[in-house]
Order: sequence, then C-alpha cells, then structure tokens
Amino acid sequence: MKAELGVCYYPEHWPEENWAKDAARMIETGLTWVRIGEFAWSWMEPTPGDLQFDWLDRAIEALGSAGLKIVLGTPTATPPRWMLDKLPEMLAVDAYGNPRKFGSRRHYCFSHPGYVDECKRIAQLMGRRYGHNPHIAAWQIDNEYGCHDTTLSYSDAALKAFRRWLSDRYGSIEALNAAWGNVFWSMEYNSFDQIEFPNLTVTEPNPAHVLAFRRFSSDQVVAFNKAQVDVLRPLTDVPLLHNYMGRVLDFDHFDVGDDLDIATWDSYPIGFLSDRLEADEAHKTAYLQQGDPDMQAFHHDLYRAVGHGRWWVMEQQPGPVNWAPYNPAPLPGMVRLWSLEAVAHGAEVVSYFRWRQAPFGQEQMHAGLLTPDGHDAPGLAEARQTADDLAALGEIQAARAPVAIVFDYASDWAWAAQPQGAGFDYFKLVFSAYRALRRAGLSVDFVPPTRVGEDHYNLILTPGVAVLGDLEQRLLHGCDLALLGPRCGAITEDFQIPQQGRPGLGGLSCHVDLIETLPPGVARTVDGGGSVEHWVERMSGTARSLLSFADGTPALQGEERLWYLPGFPDEVLWDRVIAMAAQKTGLTLHPMPTGLRRRETRSHEVFINYNAHPIAWDDLQIEGCDVQFRKRNPEQS
Ligand code: GAL
Repeated sequence: MKAELGVCYYPEHWPEENWAKDAARMIETGLTWVRIGEFAWSWMEPTPGDLQFDWLDRAIEALGSAGLKIVLGTPTATPPRWMLDKLPEMLAVDAYGNPRKFGSRRHYCFSHPGYVDECKRIAQLMGRRYGHNPHIAAWQIDNEYGCHDTTLSYSDAALKAFRRWLSDRYGSIEALNAAWGNVFWSMEYNSFDQIEFPNLTVTEPNPAHVLAFRRFSSDQVVAFNKAQVDVLRPLTDVPLLHNYMGRVLDFDHFDVGDDLDIATWDSYPIGFLSDRLEADEAHKTAYLQQGDPDMQAFHHDLYRAVGHGRWWVMEQQPGPVNWAPYNPAPLPGMVRLWSLEAVAHGAEVVSYFRWRQAPFGQEQMHAGLLTPDGHDAPGLAEARQTADDLAALGEIQAARAPVAIVFDYASDWAWAAQPQGAGFDYFKLVFSAYRALRRAGLSVDFVPPTRVGEDHYNLILTPGVAVLGDLEQRLLHGCDLALLGPRCGAITEDFQIPQQGRPGLGGLSCHVDLIETLPPGVARTVDGGGSVEHWVERMSGTARSLLSFADGTPALQGEERLWYLPGFPDEVLWDRVIAMAAQKTGLTLHPMPTGLRRRETRSHEVFINYNAHPIAWDDLQIEGCDVQFRKRNPEQS
C-alpha cells in the first residue's frame, strides 16, 4: 500500500474566490485528500427546510476538479441553533441534571429520537445529492463521538431508552434484581419504570447499575452511528468512516467500527502529552515539543484493529494547538515524524488539521498549514517534505505483529465504577504494558475480546480484562503463551465476583486469597528486581511460582501456556516479565534506547527517534526528531 496525505478544509470559512487557489496549493504541496463539511449544517440549512447546497456543489467542484479526493462529513456534531427551537429536549444532560447549552458543539443527546431523525434526514439529503459524485471518495459520519465528555447523557430521552434497554436485556425485574444483587441495601425494584440513572445517589451506586448504564450509553453511540450508516449505504459505494479521538474510552469503538469501512483518529501528540497522559515532570519536559513516544503508536495500533486493518489519521497536529493547558510548538521535524510514524503503523492516509488557521471562533489560536492570512506556516514545508518522502519510499507492506494486547472498553467502565484504589486505571495499566513491549522493540497488535483466537500470536497480554468468560479457551488457540492479570476475570457481566472462582485461574490451579491497593509511593518488591504498585493480588495454589514477592507469595504464577501476573508492574518488573515471556516463546527482543522506537512491517524495519538528539542503534545513526526506514531482506519476513 502507498500512503497518501490530506488536509481538513472549511470552504464555508473562506471567500469563494479562494477555493480553487487553495485547492491548487494543496495539490502543489503533495496532498491528495481533503475533508470538508463536518460542521457546516447552518450553511446547508440556515433555517429548517431551507436547503442551500449550491455553495457545497461549487466547493466540491473546485476541490475535486483540482484533483483532490474528498471526504464529505455529515454535519451532525454541530446541530444549528434552530434545531433547539424545533427539538428543545434534544440537548444532552450532565450528571448533575444540567442541560448542556448551545454555543460550542456536540450538545446533542445520542438517545433523542427526534434528533436521530434529523441526522438521518440531513444524511439522506446529502447522500442523494453527493452519493455518486465522482469527487466524493469517502464519507465521515459525525465528528469525534464522545469528545468533550459527551457519551453519557442523563436526559429524559436517555432514561426512557435506558429502561427499555434494561427490560430487553433482563426480561423481568426479578432477573435484574438478582443479576445486580439488589438485595444488598434493599435496592430491589418492582418494575423497570422505577429505575433511574446511577447519578446523584447518597453514596456510591451499585457498580452493576453503573456498568449497565455504561454499556447502554455505548450502545446508544453505536445505534446513532448506524442510523446514518443505514441511510448512506444504499446511496453511495465509497467507504464510510468516523474520526475517533485519543484516550476516549466511553464507548466501544470496536462496535462502532464494525459498521464502518475505515477507522480514523485525530492525533494531537503535544496536546495529549500535557492534557491526557500520566507521566512525571521529567518525562513531560523531555518530550514537551515532540509528544510521548508511545501515545501516537498506541492509538495507531488500536485503531488499526477498530478498522479491521484499514485506518487513517484524519487530523494530524500541524503546529501548536489551542486547547491544552500550555501549547508549545513541535520541534522542527516532528510534523513529518508523526506523519511517517503513522504510515509505518499502516495508515492509508495522514490528513492535517487544518489547511488555514481560522481567524475567528474558538480555535483562532490553533495552527494550520497556513497562517490566517495565507502565508506558509512551519507545518506546510514538513507536509511537503513528507509527501516527497512517501513518493521515494514506495510501498509499505503490512505484517501481523508477534504480540497482541486484548483491549476491552467495558473493562475501563467496570474499573472506573469500582477502582478500589485511586491508582488503578484501565488505560494506565494497558498503556504500561504497551510501553514495555515497545521498550523491548516489539511491534504490537490490539485485539478486541471477541476476535481473540482468529489470528495466532506468540504472546497475548490481557491486562485488566474484567470479564473473561470463554476468552480463556480462545486465548489458548490464539497464542503460544497468554499472560493474564492483574484483575482478570474478576467479575461477571453483571458485576459480581464469579461464584465458581475466576476463569483463567482454575486452569492454572491458583487462586486469589486477598486483594490490596496501595497509595502512590508504596510498592511491593519482587525478588530479583522490580515491584508492583497500585494493585496487588495475593495468590496461592499449586501452579508454579515464576517470580516471588519478598514475603514468598507468587509475583508471577504459571504453567506451560498460561501465566498470571497478580499486580500492576512498575517498568523494571514489566521488562523482566516480557523478557521471560520472550524466552519462553522464542521471541527476539530489541531493547530500545530511551525515546527510540521500532516498528516492523513486512517490507521495512522503521526507527522513530522522539529525542531531539541523534541516536546510534545497530549500524544506524538516526537524527533527532527523525525517522528511518530500513528495507528488510525478503528472508527476514
Ligand atoms: C479535534 C476536532 C477538530 C478540532 C481539533 C482541534 O478534536 O475534531 O474539529 O477542534 O480537535 O485540535
């Protein structure tokens, strides 16, 4: 596959006479894709029923006839003001019962049937008009589901839908009471109509109630997306996609992805480093202008799985953003590095956000490839350089990674409902495992629980997977060695401790006798090096103890094909465990110097240097903020 570049463009922000000039300049920069339309509802329909598509016809023609392929967005993330007059109840409501107001974006409730109908209506109008337009090469549905904390809504419409969802799931109120253990604290219900949201309770609500609400809320996003998919499918033959976000786990992206053709995501490395990553100050300072060396790759690999192998970066940070607490500029070379790194992970397209910086509105301080007055911003030259690099590079052939991590959105919801210790966070745990594999120079795939067993891996990790069910059996088909733990199989679908003991552990002949969580700075050391933090399970049983805590209890227990790790490892312990697993499964490790990362494809070995300084590795010298592609000889692959 040969990767391409693109850009996000807002014709409605610029005088019409600019459109053709902008398009020519995009082509001259080496861009071949442009995304438009995703926020332009108030221009398509300024008042209810007053359809104004002429300007969009001309914009599509100007961009398309210049040679650009267009991704057309449905504008449903930004319902115009008149929608509120028409559907006053369409607003999402926060956990305190306050309706979210008009004046920014994503203010709708996923469960409002009237709003869903409006979205279907506009999608259908657009599909009929542009579904077979030769310039439209893909459709984006909505924009960044879940961004700005918008998955959960406590509206009347959501409550009605939640009660229906519960009644479909449990069939009878007795079954729900039993499944949730509502005998505890006399929480039993007499009918589904009595059930409220799990908010505003005196002390914590039943975690089973919370988990059900989280599952429901995720299903509402899936249904909302599918409503537009069902409208557009018959009207077009080109791919349908959505642009997901970084570290948004509030809905199951795999479920949404199953209805789409391509997964895309929006990558803002410097914004994410300061805004949504736990790391010490030294780390944040070292990568202030580069972003974290694993955060982008993590999402590339995750969204590759969400897209069943097909994925893009829809929005690539091109310079300083406006929304993080501080917004430093990328070091020279980083815009190119991020773009090429995405390609190394299999991106079909990397598209920059945005073409020209907006001179008005909330994002007027957000860089584009051009300044607001149309001069080249620093990102433009790097985009051009990337286009040249891609042309020189030729085809990058994808390969399955030797190691996979099972990623399970519902585990995040479960552990957020009952963390048990403030330091236990699902993303943090999975990310620590991912980092460890990457420090070892391994390429990583993610797999949703439902697809475990479809492909074979040397090693599969399942950190924190809350409900194991039949995954235990499928894991054994899916790999040579499965590394379970910590906190795996610890609850049932309905948030109860499994009566028959934990799945996974039975097969290992071991069990958990006690669980403790630890405050920051306290750890349990492991003989020979490393320790666990946040979460410790005290194990017993006849399975072999492969590592021990200082008190002699197992810190890693295992048999031939299944190991259990009973705590949240620090870096040293992760590295030890990965090295032991590699030895067991015949995996070759390539320990990486700080800030250097390696990605293997069938055709290339790629080295990505997030450091500002050069790094020597093997026979290579990799400059600071640079990427090197080394061709693999065919026998290696
Ligand atoms: C994304 C969003 C864009 C723009 C961008 C700014 O989250 O999809 O519309 O707001 O962030 O960084």
